[in-house]
Amino acid sequence: LSSIRVDVSGVEQGTQLTVKWLGKPVFVRRRTEQEIEEARAVDLSELPDQNAENANLPDGAPATDENRALAAFEGGDGDGVSGEWLVMMGVCTHLGCVPLGEAGDFDGWFCPCHGSHYDTAGRIRRGPAPRNLPVPIAEFVDASTIKLG
Ligand code: FES
Repeated sequence: LSSIRVDVSGVEQGTQLTVKWLGKPVFVRRRTEQEIEEARAVDLSELPDQNAENANLPDGAPATDENRALAAFEGGDGDGVSGEWLVMMGVCTHLGCVPLGEAGDFDGWFCPCHGSHYDTAGRIRRGPAPRNLPVPIAEFVDASTIKLG
């Protein structure tokens, strides 16, 4: 299994970096407090896919925002916002198009191919896609580097 390291030191809050990994786009988004709040305010019963779809967690973990976001760097200086980093495959779970960021009715991602709307935690909210955008194996290896895989 090939893993890569992604330098996220230049990623400002409210922006995202897209990297290629295993031939697919991966979105690394540094969310604003508003995006996090919006995602956390959602009643889980409203979610079409109740599974976190997070490869770092046991199967069947619920799709809370906390279970979608990347854990902060341990030993970090604590100046970051908790839950601000969201890492997920940029591949629509319908038929595999690349969703557009900061778009759609839930302020997250929108897949223009057939109209799937994802929220600010990358969870499917409306449209034909059956599942949340998958969160790959990922972790911080230092304060500004995320390892994928
Ligand atoms: Fe995204 Fe069909 S591929 S909605």
